[in-house]
Amino acid sequence: MSSSPILVTGATGKTGRRVAAVLAQRGFPVRAVSRNSTIRLDWDDASTWPAALQGVRAVYIVHPGLGGDGAAAQVEQFVRAAAAAGVEKAVLASTPDDGSDFSRSMRAAESHIVAAGLQLTSLRLRWFFQNFSEDFLLQPVLSGELRLPAGDGKEAFVDADDIAEVAVAALTDARHNGRRYDLTGPRLLSFADVAREITDGAGHPLTYVPVDSDTYVAEQLAQQVPQEWARAFAALYQDIASGKLAQVSADVEAVLGKPARDFSGFVSNTARGGAWKQAV
Ligand SMILES: NC(=O)c1ccc[n+]([C@@H]2O[C@H](COP(=O)([O-])OP(=O)(O)OC[C@H]3O[C@@H](n4cnc5c(N)ncnc54)[C@H](OP(=O)(O)O)[C@@H]3O)[C@@H](O)[C@H]2O)c1
Repeated sequence: MSSSPILVTGATGKTGRRVAAVLAQRGFPVRAVSRNSTIRLDWDDASTWPAALQGVRAVYIVHPGLGGDGAAAQVEQFVRAAAAAGVEKAVLASTPDDGSDFSRSMRAAESHIVAAGLQLTSLRLRWFFQNFSEDFLLQPVLSGELRLPAGDGKEAFVDADDIAEVAVAALTDARHNGRRYDLTGPRLLSFADVAREITDGAGHPLTYVPVDSDTYVAEQLAQQVPQEWARAFAALYQDIASGKLAQVSADVEAVLGKPARDFSGFVSNTARGGAWKQAV
């Protein structure tokens, strides 16, 4: 096993934290970075990149701004610096091709990684289970109501623990070089299904209320969400409503040799962990 570290960006986030933990459990040297780590990495401050990249052989790239202006260009500069520093491999937290600004930005980032001469494994991620327990859907769950413009659309939600295990495989095994994986859970769920499963499995009453996009955006603006983000999320929910990505992939099982984790296990683990304990 090489002694040069694997760099994990976004290491305080939903996937990066898990990728760093799994690498460490398996005995790989890890350098876990974000804007808040001892060795810092800030996408907006290139002067932080050389120390983060020093001696690294592979990097897990999470750029939370991909989809917005300038983020793909930052990835381009970063992977050039990485290649110059001797990094050989990048695993990108990416999204499927759906014609959106997000996916255009992700495709650009992928191209920049390859053009810099790094081996790429692209993880094309569907919505994470953990959005309901650690991120922007936690507050709506706690409030007892998911008011979203997703209609009856279904999504192939995936567990961030599976994403992390696949990322670790890709970071540590050259057989995944040049591959792209569609990472989904084992079944399609609508937001009404999600609400029912959380209500029944966690004993936490939750209702899904489909709203139209304009109502959703107006409600988000009233909660001080910036207009650009409210509109971007409305578009993502509309994508789910359209059903255009309602497909389950077998890639998690193909890489890990075990079935993708199911939403029901996530619900019981999260209920046990107390994230949904606040009174409705
Ligand atoms: N959530 C989903 O359902 C979903 C689905 C498909 C794809 N994705 C993609 O997955 C990625 C997000 O991954 P995630 O959910 O694991 O991350 P996350 O939970 O959103 O956390 C973001 C991470 O990025 C770090 N960060 C934020 N701003 C930064 C900056 N300027 N410089 C350096 N680091 C910064 C944060 O750390 P600090 O605050 O400590 O710096 C944190 O560790 C995005 O590219 C997203 O498009 C998400």
